[in-house]
Amino acid sequence: MSPALRAGCILPVLLVVPFLLAWAPGCTARYTADWASLDARPLPQWFDDAKIGIFVHWGVFSVPGIGQFSEWFWCWWKIQKRADQVNFMRKNYPPGFEYADFATQFHAEFFNPDVWAELFKASGAKYVVFTSKHHEGFTNWPSADSWNWNSMAVGPHRDLVGELVQAVRKKSLHMGLYHSLYEWFHPLYLADKASGFKTQEFVARKALPELVNLVTAYKPDLIWSDGDWEAPDTYWNSTEFLAWLYNDSPIKDVVVTNDRWGKGCYCKHGGYYNCADRYTPGKLPDHKWEKCQSIDKRSWGYRRNMKLSELMDLPSIVKDMVYVVAMGGNYLLNIGPMSDGMIAPVFEERLRGLGAWLGINGEAIYASKTWRVQTENSTANVWYTAKNNTVYAIILGWPSKQVLQLTVPKMSAATQITLLDYPNVPLKWAPLTPSAGLVIAMPPMPVSPGNAWCLKLEGVV
Ligand SMILES: *[C@@H]1O[C@H](CO)[C@@H](O)[C@H](O)[C@H]1NC(C)=O
Ligand SMILES: *[C@@H]1O[C@H](CO)[C@@H](O)[C@H](O)[C@H]1NC(C)=O
Ligand SMILES: *[C@@H]1O[C@H](CO)[C@@H](O)[C@H](O)[C@H]1NC(C)=O
Repeated sequence: MSPALRAGCILPVLLVVPFLLAWAPGCTARYTADWASLDARPLPQWFDDAKIGIFVHWGVFSVPGIGQFSEWFWCWWKIQKRADQVNFMRKNYPPGFEYADFATQFHAEFFNPDVWAELFKASGAKYVVFTSKHHEGFTNWPSADSWNWNSMAVGPHRDLVGELVQAVRKKSLHMGLYHSLYEWFHPLYLADKASGFKTQEFVARKALPELVNLVTAYKPDLIWSDGDWEAPDTYWNSTEFLAWLYNDSPIKDVVVTNDRWGKGCYCKHGGYYNCADRYTPGKLPDHKWEKCQSIDKRSWGYRRNMKLSELMDLPSIVKDMVYVVAMGGNYLLNIGPMSDGMIAPVFEERLRGLGAWLGINGEAIYASKTWRVQTENSTANVWYTAKNNTVYAIILGWPSKQVLQLTVPKMSAATQITLLDYPNVPLKWAPLTPSAGLVIAMPPMPVSPGNAWCLKLEGVV
């Protein structure tokens, strides 16, 4: 971090005397570069309200586009020397063909950021997280610190980050950037690693300048940090970066961060918690969290050899999302576009289906809170959310007897129950026991795009 960045608070006070009073309160509440201070920052509210995001993994790895976790292709091929990748290269490419040569085949010729943004909006998501740089180190923006390994110098010859940021903002969605701290093959990183992370050349000359560049150039609403796990946060200078981000950066009031800021950090420090990929807590977490989940269960990046049976269908996506929201989380659903910039129609269909479901039932999801109970004990097929004094019971699967039994809500004289598919049509119900629970007479089953329905319970506790 440069001293100029650190001085961001003091300088305006000295220069702009009339604003002295306006600046002073901000200055007293500055964050210091330690976890106790940074972890105490309140999470900007937009994130908890948003609930649903779309994760996009796109890079040079999208060109070979094969194998489990295709975004790790380079590592599987050259570091782990996995037979699948080694044989694939031996069979299909001339000797001497290197991973870097794939970049010249990353054409993105059909990439239309407005088409992507329209789809993300139609999915019902409220934010997007895009790989600005994955572990391969290729930057999807013209980084001055990545001089011949970026999307402007080679491949698409476009600022993919910049174009997508603009298009997503036009649709009034929040824009987040994924950023990998480590790079498998960067010589400076490998030298630092060889020193036992005593030296910080890679951090000083690559990781931090690029992070600051991303923040100042694109003003993301969210930084999704990754690739932190080989080295401690003190090597990455994560707390110094976050103190600058929260105190002095142009996005200090709006930016949200995750928890991958150094070995041992995740699930402990940072903004909201991702914990492990596809994190699935067994009980209600006491800290805001997000589950990232890929529609293609085997990969974040596009796989040309994926099969339908390996993808989540819409009901399983809705089920997973409902569980996450009922447990206080956000749901970040991943797609991997093809290297030509197309999004496979099967992913498009899933996203539009999710949007159709949220179009009917979004009231129970967006800006909802966890309720005093998350699920009905018997089945785990009913999940609860709440907003103001309304409770929502989301049912996964339609009851076979046209009668639904809920054991948890306690009714009152004012209890009214409707199905979000049929607003303003109160359903008949009777108490299950004198103290709690309801038996609800269900109407004819409405068609649901996700095989899940939502009851709105007013006047229950
Ligand atoms: C990391 O932070 C320490 C403490 O502020 C500082 O001395 C060091 O120069 C920083 N390193 C980098 C690479 O920014
Ligand atoms: C669910 O079961 C547990 C243990 O059997 C019990 O303590 C809890 O009160 C039950 N919750 C509901 C909502 O019935
Ligand atoms: C809660 O109710 C208040 C007052 O009726 C309303 O203004 C507000 O929008 C509601 N909040 C939510 C999250 O629905």
